[in-house]
Amino acid sequence: MQEINGRTKICGLIGNPVEHTLSPLIHNTLSRALGKNFVYVPFLVEDGNLKTAVKGAYALNVAGLNVTVPYKSEVISQVKEMDELAAHIGAVNTLVRCEGGYKGFNTDMTGLYRAMMSEGIVLSGEKVIVLGAGGAARAVVFMCVHFGAKAVYVLNRTRKKAEEVTEEANRTFRKNCVYALGLTEYEKLPEGKFLAIQSTSVGLFPNTEEAVIEEAGFYEKIHTGYDLVYSPFETKFMRLVKKQEGKAYNGLKMLLYQGVEAYEYFSKEAVSEALSLEVYEKMKKAMGADE
Ligand code: ATR
Repeated sequence: MQEINGRTKICGLIGNPVEHTLSPLIHNTLSRALGKNFVYVPFLVEDGNLKTAVKGAYALNVAGLNVTVPYKSEVISQVKEMDELAAHIGAVNTLVRCEGGYKGFNTDMTGLYRAMMSEGIVLSGEKVIVLGAGGAARAVVFMCVHFGAKAVYVLNRTRKKAEEVTEEANRTFRKNCVYALGLTEYEKLPEGKFLAIQSTSVGLFPNTEEAVIEEAGFYEKIHTGYDLVYSPFETKFMRLVKKQEGKAYNGLKMLLYQGVEAYEYFSKEAVSEALSLEVYEKMKKAMGADE
């Protein structure tokens, strides 16, 4: 990051709360490394102030914003344009300045895709299990179909919610490749091994001894497990995947690449894999997971 001067461009994060975010670390590290005159700051937006915040940011010439809890859906009503995948998902975490306002993107999901690619996980043609059917899981299902998964099995405690997500995804993409099951129905999965994406908050600190499914029989079907949770660094889900000889990853790289992709939109410059991994090391350090 250069010294702040009259040409400094401002980007930031809007949400509530914003105190514990790693986004300033990601963006400011990238600006420093690339010699860009950008600064990234957290903006706490109180309940009821979202519209004013977005309008104010535009008036203040803010170049780009990330959006976090609880505004990822609500912010859609404040954008000028929408990216197609973000519109399908129904959630926006990145606002990029455009003519007359901001364009909404969802780099959480393109970031997850890039994180998986960086681990050598190929979605195209893959059979995927998505655990959960809440907001995060729904986005993951849409992302998987968008990037060419052959079949997606949505497993959820409340089967009805899995059915709703399934129906919506099949309708949106005019395909019939998404299927719903209850959590206890994993025996009904077809033969073969799957990529599983754990998309519930079960196992999140401090409930580190919990996993959404515990049975070894389920984990025998998994060749790779990807947990959206990254705190703890190794979740119970990951441990159960590894116990049955599967590969397991946490969600910290997803967080990294959602930031990297947002940065690329804000700065109009590509970020290399090597630089991304430097940022990743800093994130691990900030989380105390750099042993
Ligand atoms: P998010 O926005 O993080 O996705 P959400 O929309 O509240 O959060 O969704 C939470 C997801 O975690 C749901 O799929 C939920 O299952 P239900 O639809 O049956 O409620 C799942 N979940 C939460 N706690 C769970 C638990 N103890 N066991 C199994 N699933 C759980």
